[in-house]
Amino acid sequence: MKDIEQIKSLEEQYQLKTYAKFPIALERGEGVYVFDTAGKRYLDFYGGHAVATTGHCHPAVVKAITEQASKLIFYSNIVYSTVRAEACEALVSLAPAGLTQVFLCNSGAEANETAIKAARKFSGKPLIISMREGFHGRTYGAMSITGFEKYRIYPPGLPGIEFATFGNAAELEQLFGERGAEIACVILEPVQSMAGIRIAPPAYYRALRELCTKHNAVLIFDEVQTGFGRTGANFFGENVGVTPDIITTAKGIASGVPMGATFFHEKIAAAVKLGEHGATFGGAPLACAAAKATVEVLKSERLAEHAKVAGAKLIDGLQAARLPGLKEIRGLGLLIGLEFETEAKPIIQKLFERGVITGSSEEKHTLRLIPPLVVNENHCQELITALQDVLKE
Ligand SMILES: Cc1ncc(COP(=O)(O)O)c(C=O)c1O
Repeated sequence: MKDIEQIKSLEEQYQLKTYAKFPIALERGEGVYVFDTAGKRYLDFYGGHAVATTGHCHPAVVKAITEQASKLIFYSNIVYSTVRAEACEALVSLAPAGLTQVFLCNSGAEANETAIKAARKFSGKPLIISMREGFHGRTYGAMSITGFEKYRIYPPGLPGIEFATFGNAAELEQLFGERGAEIACVILEPVQSMAGIRIAPPAYYRALRELCTKHNAVLIFDEVQTGFGRTGANFFGENVGVTPDIITTAKGIASGVPMGATFFHEKIAAAVKLGEHGATFGGAPLACAAAKATVEVLKSERLAEHAKVAGAKLIDGLQAARLPGLKEIRGLGLLIGLEFETEAKPIIQKLFERGVITGSSEEKHTLRLIPPLVVNENHCQELITALQDVLKE
């Protein structure tokens, strides 16, 4: 078996160097824990980047993938597929009323590309409004609507994109007043995650909904992180009583098997015609088996409800622990940001050395907690104890 140094040197030799990595190689996962090649156990409050909704290697998901792999790994959309049909039905069953059709793809960026393309087609208008400090992915279109300059490599990116300030309904109202006839859509992360877990007041989302309806613009929620139970609801809009026209998703949708999905309101779905969009691997049987099993586990284990309760208890526990240097806790369900008085990177590093994986963000003082939705009180206590020890040092 290769040791970490051999693995590291191979990856560094052959994989394009675009990722900063912790110096471990993971071998297996179970629930909220992952294990490295040396056998060390890590408590995963990063959820493999908000992906492991049902926990690592949930037995029902493993069974579904294994059974599907032994039958048919792949065939494209030129034929029908039982598992695809059932996965689409299961996915749509989680979506808000009116969002009755889904396009399956492979990643969050691709789900967003699909959404903006359809919004332009539906509205017949050119302009996309996105939010400063929103993150939507790394493909050219997704990068162009991402509101951090740092990610818009080789600017200016795509034309026809304007940025607004997340949480500022008055600014958007003015923009619609001036250019409403040009605006195809407004796209936003309903909780800005990369920006350090930023949530707007419910009235903001309602104002967005009203403006988009009034000006015949498409409201798109990028729920790549917030979807599938993470915020304590199947999708974020339920928390504030707002239904967007399009929801984009990926990450937790299939418990780690690559998949993205764009959910459409029926009126927008009707504007997309045969042959206007596609993806070879979209709706692949293996991914569909994983997605269908993920939805079943979400429902049978009531994971959205659990995320709501567990997240609130975790926030209470963190507050009660009176962690030194902790300035603010922001979050909803199991999407939580801890803002410290100092930079979060050294805290993340020390937690890692103690066997706890957490995430950073573009807000340098904020550490992100995005664990599998199956975390229990013991896992949360383990995290709090580790934070207490690390912050004492
Ligand atoms: C909100 C949001 N949208 C889109 C993406 C892009 O997803 P992917 O990396 O699957 O393309 C991410 C990834 O982190 C994300 O957090």
